[in-house]
Amino acid sequence: MRQIKPVVSERLPELLRRMPKAELHMHIEGSLEPELMFALAARNGLTVPYPDVAALRRAYVFNNLQEFLDVYHAGTLVLRTEQDFYDMCWAYLVRAAADHVLHTEIFFDTQTHTSHGLSADVVINGLHRACADAQEQLGISASLILCFLRHLSEHEAFEALEQALPYRDKLVGIGLASSELGHPPEKFAKVFARARALDFRLVAHAGEEGPPAYIWSALDVLKVERIDHGVQALRDPALVTRLAFERIPLTVCPLSNLKLKVFPTLAQHNLGRMLQAGLVATVNSDDPAYFGGYINENYTQTFAALGLTAQHAYQLAHNSFAASFIDASAKQAFQDRLVEVFETFE
Ligand code: HPA
Ligand code: ZN
Repeated sequence: MRQIKPVVSERLPELLRRMPKAELHMHIEGSLEPELMFALAARNGLTVPYPDVAALRRAYVFNNLQEFLDVYHAGTLVLRTEQDFYDMCWAYLVRAAADHVLHTEIFFDTQTHTSHGLSADVVINGLHRACADAQEQLGISASLILCFLRHLSEHEAFEALEQALPYRDKLVGIGLASSELGHPPEKFAKVFARARALDFRLVAHAGEEGPPAYIWSALDVLKVERIDHGVQALRDPALVTRLAFERIPLTVCPLSNLKLKVFPTLAQHNLGRMLQAGLVATVNSDDPAYFGGYINENYTQTFAALGLTAQHAYQLAHNSFAASFIDASAKQAFQDRLVEVFETFE
């Protein structure tokens, strides 16, 4: 890895904000800010069960993943039209571009919305149109990853996959999200095999709250290329050796881990130890509207809490491009821009 010249600690937040980066773990439904939620509810003749934005924000206190998922699911009820999905995705892309995100791979699911009576095309077309407009108008590159909901059955995941196939060209990959404990990756062995046969890139949430065994089976049974979260890997030295040796990226989300009480404080987060162990870790926002920050807040707060340096910043941003599903020449171009910012930063 390139040696980066030291940056004084007062200047580090500015470098973190300004450095080019990719975001690889962000659920678009988790970017729905309370203000937009109320606006969409009004547009669709619906009500939000809170008196105002401030009251809704005050409800964003969680003890674990499931408590969050229940609130997050309630928030998706305001999404009814293709334009709603467009507006939500556009708002995120404007925010990401302001944070110097050059490329983003956006998670979404269709099962939440089809269970509310929408069809998959409304979801996918709205999100895709926002991504296309953002490339043109904001210069940010964006692709879409369809996540299956693991608390539902594999049969239902197969249905979601079949419904998405007419839009195959608008999707880069398949992921696995929602309640982790009790729903191990191997529950989805067959549907991931089918997705692999269809040439989708594969990722899965594993080792957020779940044990290292779930990371092993995401790799060995689902054959995913990246692990989402993966922070529990450090409990298993043999797994750490494998992840480092095979250079399997981990999309870490520090503020999410803090809000969902995976770690009691940010100072106890293991991101620094992951890098120390040679893991290909990245920093991401997960559900920024709910967890108190977009990607730059994840970087600045975590660096302050852990005392990480400009060298770590370069490593993490470099990893984010390396771990992305863009072609080799685009990766190189983004990494060249990264080097340029580090070399010219005063
Ligand atoms: N974990 C699992 N499922 C999710 C998450 C998460 O952090 N965010 C949105 N869906
Ligand atoms: Zn997630």
